[in-house]
Amino acid sequence: MKTTGGTDAQKRRAAAAAVEAVEDGTVVGLGTGSTTAFAIRAIGDRVADGLDVRGVPTSFAARELARECGIPVADLDEVDAIDLAIDGADQVATTDGALVKGGGAAHAREKVVDAFADRFLVIADPSKTAETLSHAVPIEVLPSARTTVAAGVSDLGGEAALRRAERKDGPVVTDNGNLVLDCEFGTISDPESLAAALASLPGAVEHGIFVGLADAVYVGTDDGVDVTE
Ligand code: 5RP
Repeated sequence: MKTTGGTDAQKRRAAAAAVEAVEDGTVVGLGTGSTTAFAIRAIGDRVADGLDVRGVPTSFAARELARECGIPVADLDEVDAIDLAIDGADQVATTDGALVKGGGAAHAREKVVDAFADRFLVIADPSKTAETLSHAVPIEVLPSARTTVAAGVSDLGGEAALRRAERKDGPVVTDNGNLVLDCEFGTISDPESLAAALASLPGAVEHGIFVGLADAVYVGTDDGVDVTE
C-alpha cells in the first residue's frame, strides 16, 4: 500500500484516537490507504474484545483487510445507514477541512461512503496538512473518456497525467474498472468551484476534492493527536 511523508507512529495515533469514537452496534465506513489500515486493525482488535460492528469497506483492499481483522463487512446497499466513517486523505486544508483524496484510487466509493455517513472522521499525519489545497486532484474517468476529460482539465487551467501502476507496465485500473488522471492545478484557492467544474466534465466518474464532508480531522503527531472539529 502507498506510503507518505508521515511516520507510522503518527498515523497509528490518529487512527487509534478516531477508532475510540466507534460505538457498539454501529455501522462504520472503512476508508482506504495506509493510515486507514491502522484504523481497520484497531477496530479489528476491538471486535476481538467483543465490539459489535459492521464495516462498509470503500475498496477491495479495505474489504480484504477488514475480513482479515475479523470485522464483519457489508456492502453499501446492505445497510440503512452508516453511523461513522473513518478515512485518510492526501491533503487536508486546515482552514476549512476541504480534502484531496484518491491517492489509492478509491475516492469514488470513498466519497459515497464518507458523504452518506452521519459522521466522517479524517485521519492524517502532519505531512498532509496545508493552509490551502495544492495537491494534484485525482479524477476517476471512463477509459474511453481519458483524453476528453484531460482536455477539459486543460481548459480549466490544469494538467492531467494518466496514473501508471508502480510495478506493472500499464495504467492503474480502479475497483470500478476505470482509469485515474492526476491533475495539477497549483494552489486551489476555491475548491468548491473547482469541484463543481470537474464534476461537470462528461466521462469524469468522480474527482478527489471533498468539500464540506469532514466532521473532524485527527492529525497524529509525535506526541499526541490534534483534533479539529
Ligand atoms: C485512497 C485515499 C487515501 O485515504 C489517501 O490516499 C491517503 O492514503 P494514505 O493514508 O496511505 O496516505 O484517498 O483513495
